[in-house]
Amino acid sequence: MPNFTAISGFYRPPKIRTLNKLGSRALLRFAHIIHIMITVISSTNRPESHTLKLSQYYQRKLKEAGEDAGLLSLTDLPPNVIQADMYKNAADDFKPIQDIITASDKFVFVVPEYNGSFPGVLKVLIDACKYPDSFFGKKAALVGLSSGKYGNIRGIDHLTGICHYINLHVLPMRIHIPAIDKEFDESGNLFKPDTVKFTDEQIRRFLSF
Ligand SMILES: Cc1cc2nc3c(=O)[nH]c(=O)nc-3n(C[C@H](O)[C@H](O)[C@H](O)COP(=O)(O)O)c2cc1C
Repeated sequence: MPNFTAISGFYRPPKIRTLNKLGSRALLRFAHIIHIMITVISSTNRPESHTLKLSQYYQRKLKEAGEDAGLLSLTDLPPNVIQADMYKNAADDFKPIQDIITASDKFVFVVPEYNGSFPGVLKVLIDACKYPDSFFGKKAALVGLSSGKYGNIRGIDHLTGICHYINLHVLPMRIHIPAIDKEFDESGNLFKPDTVKFTDEQIRRFLSF
C-alpha cells in the first residue's frame, strides 16, 4: 500500500526529479538543454470521442509552438487494468502507460463531462499509477468539454481537488468548452474566434508555467 498519512494533503514526498526542483525562470534559461516532456491525456475511453479530437488539436498546437508533445488516450488502457491488482502489482500491460506518466513533466488533461464530473476511467488511471512519484511536483493544464451548457465546470473542479492532493500543480487558467459538437471545422480544428483565442492563451501560459 502507498504510504498515506492520516492528515489529508501531507504525505512523504517522493524523490522529486531534479527538473521539478528548478524554478520556472531557471527552466526557461535552460530550456534549450533540458528536454521537458509534455503529454496530452485524452481522458475518456469512449471510441471516436470529441475528447480525442480536442486532444489531437492541443497536441498540434503544442507542436506548432515547438513542443513535441505526446498523446495518451485512455482508449489504450489495458482492459484488465481493474482486474489485476492495480494497487500493488499493476498489470504488465499497464507498464507502458506508467512509463509515459513517469517520464512526463507536464500534462494537458482534456476532460469530458460525464454525469456532472470527469470520467471514472480517468480516476482509474490516477489510482493505478505509482503513488506518490507519478505526479508529485509536476504541472498540469486542465481543459473541460461537454455537449451540454457548462463545459465540465464541476468535473474540472473535482479534478483540480485531486491534483492538489497528489501535488500536481494546476495552471490557474482552466478552459471550459460547452456544445463541443459545434466547435470543430471539417479538418478537426477549433474555428470560433473566442475558443481559439482562449485556448491559444492557455497554451501560451502553460508553456511558461
Ligand atoms: C457516460 C456519459 C455521461 C455524460 N454526462 C454528461 C453530463 O453530465 N453533462 C453534459 O453536458 N454532457 C454529458 N455527456 C455528453 C458528453 O459531454 C459528450 O459526449 C461530449 O461529446 C464529450 O464527451 P466525448 O469526448 O465522450 O465525446 C455524457 C456522455 C457520456 C458518454
